[in-house]
Amino acid sequence: MDAADQNWWRGAAIYQVYVRSFADGNGDGTGDLAGVRARLPYLAELGVDALWFTPWYLSPLADGGYDVADYRTIDPAFGTLAEAEKLISEARDLGLRTIVDIVPNHVSDQHPWFRAALAAGPGSPERELFHFRPGRGENGELPPNDWPSEFPGAPTWTRVPDGDWYLHLFTPRQPDLNWAHPAVRREHEDILRFWFERGVAGVRIDSAALLAKDPDLPDFVQGDTPHPFVDRDELHDIYRSWRAVADEYGAVFVGEVWLPDAERFARYLRPDELHTAFNFDFMTRPWDAAELRRSIDRTLGEHAGIGAPATWVLCNHDVTRTVTRYGREDTAFAFAAKRFGTPTDLALGTRRARAAALLSLALPGAVYLYQGEELGLPEAELTPDRIQDPMHFRSGGVDPGRDGCRVPMPWAADEPYAGFGSTGEPWLPQPVDWAAYAADRQATDPASVLALYRAALRIRRTRPGFGDGPLHWLASPEGVLAFSRPGGLVCVVNTAAAPVELPAHTAVLLTSGPLAATGRLPRDTAVWLRA
Ligand code: NOJ
Repeated sequence: MDAADQNWWRGAAIYQVYVRSFADGNGDGTGDLAGVRARLPYLAELGVDALWFTPWYLSPLADGGYDVADYRTIDPAFGTLAEAEKLISEARDLGLRTIVDIVPNHVSDQHPWFRAALAAGPGSPERELFHFRPGRGENGELPPNDWPSEFPGAPTWTRVPDGDWYLHLFTPRQPDLNWAHPAVRREHEDILRFWFERGVAGVRIDSAALLAKDPDLPDFVQGDTPHPFVDRDELHDIYRSWRAVADEYGAVFVGEVWLPDAERFARYLRPDELHTAFNFDFMTRPWDAAELRRSIDRTLGEHAGIGAPATWVLCNHDVTRTVTRYGREDTAFAFAAKRFGTPTDLALGTRRARAAALLSLALPGAVYLYQGEELGLPEAELTPDRIQDPMHFRSGGVDPGRDGCRVPMPWAADEPYAGFGSTGEPWLPQPVDWAAYAADRQATDPASVLALYRAALRIRRTRPGFGDGPLHWLASPEGVLAFSRPGGLVCVVNTAAAPVELPAHTAVLLTSGPLAATGRLPRDTAVWLRA
């Protein structure tokens, strides 16, 4: 492996596959590995470097697979381990690396460890792998503490019939592991090796800042540091030993680290810890040049000191799809603000999402695309009776939840279920106009979102100035972002109302939408220039 190959992750374009909704190979209405394997040529043609698979392990799917019952088995709904191995090697043959998703904070309530803990009873060594405690109150009828849930609106403790309570930051079907226990650490290092041995190039770490808990499990006091369960210092020792394992295989990590404090965030990216972490600050900002620039500067600043590359994310399987978010009055993203029936201008949102695509693909570092983003899929508004996401139920039905961004992909406009699978009704209903977004229709339309992504990714792969490296801001009017990258690339994004003059250039490489007749860059449009 040469150095460029070893450093692939510093500037990669990584495509997130939500297996359950990607492609249904066996026609049962649920996406599967056979479906992914059949679509590998599509992904190679799209021009991404790696695929991140959301959890594909044995799971009751109480939280879409983020409730793992066995890390060494593929869920039968998706396929078999032998198929996963084939998928990894077929993808590699097409130049696509594989990233798997590890969920270390919790397991499924069906995991053998948790079942054993329930059976073994209070005070048993089996219960020490989790956070079991007696309750408070006269008869132990009150939970051991008042910690808020990561899925707002519901408790974090559940009482079992023998009177003990167990901690779950997410749903009761996802008991939190006790990361102070050496067996928990040993087991996860073993799981990492299991997948690295199978040729996996990287691991996404779910809820990476939540694993360590204050051993006294004290009540939560707003503003208290250290926080009893977020971003605790003990975590860094865990990730240092994970890093040693990854280094044996030349594999890399991307952490799901939601932290408002830039300095604390950067600590996860020190040279002997995680290689990268998702940049959620950028993903949550509104469509506004000043806000985006603040986020870009903050991101590049926090990464500069530690030598880690930044990452750029516009959406994923947890948040409102980009074209929908940018088509609303409030273009920022916040979980707490999600509501049914929010008015949306999809034409406006799509214009902005196209511009945002060119922006994020031109920024220094790696970029993540979520399946369907390359088709400009909007968020689907599902009726409550079809929603399966626990986030919806735990909010008391107020939050529409995350299924709206998880609707099965449209592949072929003229086939049943827009080509997702031939026979079975998809596990989530597709909106009536889904076929209009089908990949086969977009593939032949030069004005489609898919055509834009293909062109952008091709340029990004073959021209200098993309991926890892410096960024230099150029003077620009209010509401406009303009920067150059080494090798002569210039990116200009106009979020203001009036069209703007393009800076001096020798060629227009790509625009997210038509330029004005005057050659100016219209509102909500981005351009890549050669200078
Ligand atoms: C973050 C994942 O992205 C989300 O889908 C999941 O519900 C939680 N972590 C809990 O695992």
